[in-house]
Amino acid sequence: MTEIYSTPAVPGAHTPLYAGSLLSVRGLEKVYGSKESLTHALAGISFDVEQGEFVAIMGPSGSGKTTLLNCISTIDTASSGHIYVAGRDITTLSKRALTKFRRDDLGFIFQDSNLLDTLTGFENISLALTIKGTPATQIPPRVNAIASQLGVSDVLSKYPYQMSGGQKQRIAAARAMISDPQLVLADEPTGALDSRSATIMLEMLEMMNTQMGATIMMVTHDAFAASYTSRVIFIKDGTLFNELRRGDDSHDAFFNRIMEVVAFLGGEAGHVS
Ligand SMILES: Nc1ncnc2c1ncn2[C@@H]1O[C@H](COP(=O)(O)OP(=O)(O)OP(=O)(O)O)[C@@H](O)[C@H]1O
Ligand SMILES: [Mg+2]
Repeated sequence: MTEIYSTPAVPGAHTPLYAGSLLSVRGLEKVYGSKESLTHALAGISFDVEQGEFVAIMGPSGSGKTTLLNCISTIDTASSGHIYVAGRDITTLSKRALTKFRRDDLGFIFQDSNLLDTLTGFENISLALTIKGTPATQIPPRVNAIASQLGVSDVLSKYPYQMSGGQKQRIAAARAMISDPQLVLADEPTGALDSRSATIMLEMLEMMNTQMGATIMMVTHDAFAASYTSRVIFIKDGTLFNELRRGDDSHDAFFNRIMEVVAFLGGEAGHVS
């Protein structure tokens, strides 16, 4: 068989040239509002995420989780501080470089999947490659390969309205992975799913991390979801509150440790569950 891939067929298969942390957030501040009413959504937060980590961000409602994710994904701009991805400061990129960064280096999974209703599962996944200018002949084998790895081959011909919530999220995960991003950002990816679909989705994220080499940062309110990651970063009032590493813990043991911190934060945690 002829090798037709110009880029690695297996996402994450390339070795990054950069040797430091994949993501470094340094003194990140985000201030909303005017003089009369200022909100410090992010109050100088700093942390690192290494290549190959699967990290959860937890914290009470209003603690700055979405703001943090939006700054890293460059949907929002920080008031001050720096965000380095593979050593490059993304807070100083030009508009054009930002578009390229979002397209080539990031994968997104949202709470409500954000699939395009008029496109099939296959077309939703392949769109990312089309936008990048990948030659048309290379697209079907790559989409089929990722769909088979992620177990969504049977829904490729369906439109989003014909899919279950869980299937939509799994197609969205395949879409996020297809361009072999450096970093996958997920905002409450299991938030709208029942517990069975959430578990399938979490096992899939875990597989993307351990077998496909994806570095994943996931915002979640759910300690069960967080127990699938290798580290949980807790934020409170826009700054780092605590962090837990899974180590050799089972899901159950890690879940219990996460719940202890959630319970501690619980007084003001609102809907942290
Ligand atoms: N566009 C905005 N204008 C003004 N204040 C904002 C804006 N967006 C967010 N905030 C404020 O910034 C703080 C952090 O909001 P953020 O959405 O990041 O919280 P969160 O941790 O994601 O909360 P949740 O768990 O409820 O989703 C909150 O106090 C919020 O009211
Ligand atoms: Mg939020």
